[in-house]
Amino acid sequence: MTSYFVTATGTDIGKTYVTAGIIRAARQAGYDASGIKPIMSGYNEFNPEASDAGALLAAMGKPVDQQTIAAISPWRFAAPLSPDMAASREKRSISLRSILTFCRIAAEAAPGLMLVEGVGGAMVPLDNFYTVRDWISALEIPAILVAGTYLGTISHTLTAVEALQARQVNISALVLSESPNSPVPPEETAYAMAKFIPRIPIFIIPRDNNEAAFTRLAWVLAHDDKALQSAFPPERTIPTTSP
Ligand SMILES: Nc1ncnc2c1ncn2[C@@H]1O[C@H](COP(=O)(O)OP(=O)(O)OP(=O)(O)O)[C@@H](O)[C@H]1O
Ligand SMILES: [Mg+2]
Repeated sequence: MTSYFVTATGTDIGKTYVTAGIIRAARQAGYDASGIKPIMSGYNEFNPEASDAGALLAAMGKPVDQQTIAAISPWRFAAPLSPDMAASREKRSISLRSILTFCRIAAEAAPGLMLVEGVGGAMVPLDNFYTVRDWISALEIPAILVAGTYLGTISHTLTAVEALQARQVNISALVLSESPNSPVPPEETAYAMAKFIPRIPIFIIPRDNNEAAFTRLAWVLAHDDKALQSAFPPERTIPTTSP
């Protein structure tokens, strides 16, 4: 069992896209891989296939119905808002303790690679006290930080890295999921970031023809953290050709 927490610099950056892509690629390569999405906001119960949990189930080759959705996503809210706001609209609250228990049980039960997709960005509130960062830190599993390649991503990404590292969260991989209309090639953005975070392996997921990129990422993640570090020592995270 190898678990990772998939978080991001913000909402709509590519967590589900990347999580589903890793699961699919890992399964195609013969590894057991699964994912959970404990908290969903903006959930439409009449269209479960369109939800994040629906996308993860499809990647796992499982049917998408109310039961399978509930099994991997117990905290579902209708309003497309941050979890604390979405929960309060329904006069509910989110118990971090219960979420931690759910994640731990899911991780124990998973025989292979297990990915926990967070919600929104790393500093999104779950209630009046806790953010996603507290959730990751309490789980004590490494994080995969998903970021974009849009103008402004460098500062957003380095800020998220600082915030996670301030709580001793180990970031196993920074995944740059290519944004539409990126101002420069993703490699140039990766190169600019790598100078400030030389110890974090950076992976690029292009918008097109990204099967090979997902296969490579899945292979590395399916092995333990030591394999990740030795496969991508710090100096190799910086592209050899300068932009
Ligand atoms: N590398 C990529 N190539 C093509 N499309 C992408 C890529 N990354 C993200 N997308 C698309 O961008 C949109 C937002 O991605 P996604 O739903 O994965 O974000 P998210 O971080 O999971 O959002 P949320 O905070 O709502 O969970 C989706 O339509 C997704 O398919
Ligand atoms: Mg998502």
